[in-house]
Amino acid sequence: MAAYETQLQPGESRFDLYVKALIKKDSLLMQKQLSTEERAGLRIFIDKAKCTICHSGPLFTDKEFHNIGVQPPEGKSHDWGRYNGAQQVLKNKTNCLSRYNDTATVNGSKSCDELKYISLDRHETMGAFKTPSLRNVAKTAPYMHAGQYKTLLDVIKHYNDPPPAKFRQSALFLPVDLNEREFEQLEAFLKSLNSPVRAPAALLRAP
Ligand code: HEC
Repeated sequence: MAAYETQLQPGESRFDLYVKALIKKDSLLMQKQLSTEERAGLRIFIDKAKCTICHSGPLFTDKEFHNIGVQPPEGKSHDWGRYNGAQQVLKNKTNCLSRYNDTATVNGSKSCDELKYISLDRHETMGAFKTPSLRNVAKTAPYMHAGQYKTLLDVIKHYNDPPPAKFRQSALFLPVDLNEREFEQLEAFLKSLNSPVRAPAALLRAP
């Protein structure tokens, strides 16, 4: 399943076309790709709210684990997240170092650095979850590890006013101070990350 999913890449979003136009310094094309609201949202994403501390790179994720204090769904207990996940990865028979894993070898050995240097530190991993990609995020409600939030606005409000965390939060996670208008601008920007799937047609048909 994971091998199949790696073949489903996000195609170009309006945000990507905006970046291309920006590189070409074509301001008319830039305006065509993102509206004033969306551009204001992009500015908030990078500058004021510093979302790029974690949602960075081509997929808008640092691929790291952070505890950002998301509460469990009502009536459910706290999920220990990466704390349990890290132990499971080490035991998994198809992990990077296993002979069943086809990760490319270099000079006869696999690097598997992420596995070799995996953190088992309780404070770092308790209640931490992997930063998800934000590509096509407007199409993937509900949000967070147990679908705690129904809408993007709910997620944005979490960053503005996070509930008290049970486990120690990531030092990189700081509440932001946005107003209602900025919520909407940020939401508009997130929606500009929608894009079609880019994958060989055969992979999109039932086998
Ligand atoms: C400290 C790192 C960090 C920062 C800073 C951060 N995020 Fe996140 N983000 C995460 C993690 C980790 C999750 C998943 C949390 C979970 O499932 O409990 C997440 C989840 C999300 C989700 C839900 C995605 C999904 O598919 O469920 C959205 C949307 C989001 N972040 C947007 C933002 C925005 C907008 C900002 C800036 C206001 C921001 N993030 C800042 C780490 C971060």
